[in-house]
Amino acid sequence: MSRFPTGAATPRSIVDALKAAAGHPPKGRASFARGRCVRGTYAASDRAAEITKSRSFTKPSRVLARFSVGGGNPEVADNDKYGLRCFSFRLGGDGYRSDILVQSAPMHFARTLDQMLAFLKARIPRRGGKPDMTKIRAFSAANPETQHQANYIAAHPPPLSFAGTTYWGVHAFPATNAKGETRFIKFKIVPAGGEVTLTEDATKAKPADFLYDDLESRITSGDVRFNVMALLDRPGDSTMDVTIRWPDEDHREAVRLGTIVITGVEANEACDASIFDPANLAEGIGHPPDEIFAARSAAYAISLAKRR
Ligand code: HEM
Repeated sequence: MSRFPTGAATPRSIVDALKAAAGHPPKGRASFARGRCVRGTYAASDRAAEITKSRSFTKPSRVLARFSVGGGNPEVADNDKYGLRCFSFRLGGDGYRSDILVQSAPMHFARTLDQMLAFLKARIPRRGGKPDMTKIRAFSAANPETQHQANYIAAHPPPLSFAGTTYWGVHAFPATNAKGETRFIKFKIVPAGGEVTLTEDATKAKPADFLYDDLESRITSGDVRFNVMALLDRPGDSTMDVTIRWPDEDHREAVRLGTIVITGVEANEACDASIFDPANLAEGIGHPPDEIFAARSAAYAISLAKRR
């Protein structure tokens, strides 16, 4: 029997394909397997309530968070240029918690779940341990939107520091304020001290653990701080296609909802015991309407069950 996933895309078949594409590592998350759990605080800005009535974003709270690098390989080296960097965080208190998961590219690599499954299947290593490049090239040529993320990563220097990386929530989230007005926003998490980047050669020369060493030393010196920004929609913006950005996204109006300060390293068990669940959003921020978002929560729960 084939060990490769078959059939139409479901959260389970995606998790199986993520595992297979990573070479079936025995333990760990199906995606963003390598990471570090941290803690911090959130302080709301005085403009947050204009955008959302969510108490997760309008009230101060403690934060549980995790920085990670892309892929299902828990041993991946930090100087892998093409690895995405990720940041997951949980804001709020009892009855109004929200989990926000953001990554160092503003788009996802697939528009539909079927396309995501096919993308991953094309990357499952063959018997010798390497994927079939002919198959990958043919898939990319037939599905050009699956190259948007890779092209973005190739065009932007790799982040030197988790603390100096900009992260995007990718999906369009409906946000409702206290007046009952709803509009779509995209989350953009911006390092307060600016971005820190490195050339490709300098990245290769770094030790395999440099991102985590750097994170710990910056936490100790108190400079891991992010502005939580809401990018505001305009008429005609896509809310369904996660492989494209909104027009002029980098320069459009944005409201700072609040600031996260990372204050300490947590035992990884504090993050590993459960999931950052994209569907966990307190009233005031709704679920994005696209089909990729709809599959995420179930996939994370399946991955959690497998790693237990
Ligand atoms: C815009 C799209 C996406 C983004 C930004 C994203 C981001 C992330 C992040 C940040 C994590 C790490 C969570 C942690 O720190 O514990 C993660 C894990 C994961 N993602 Fe996604 N993801 C996306 C789409 C998807 C989709 C569509 C699926 C499957 C249908 C998926 C499946 C998973 C799984 C299975 C895990 C591991 C969950 C666990 O064991 O805790 N992701 N993702």
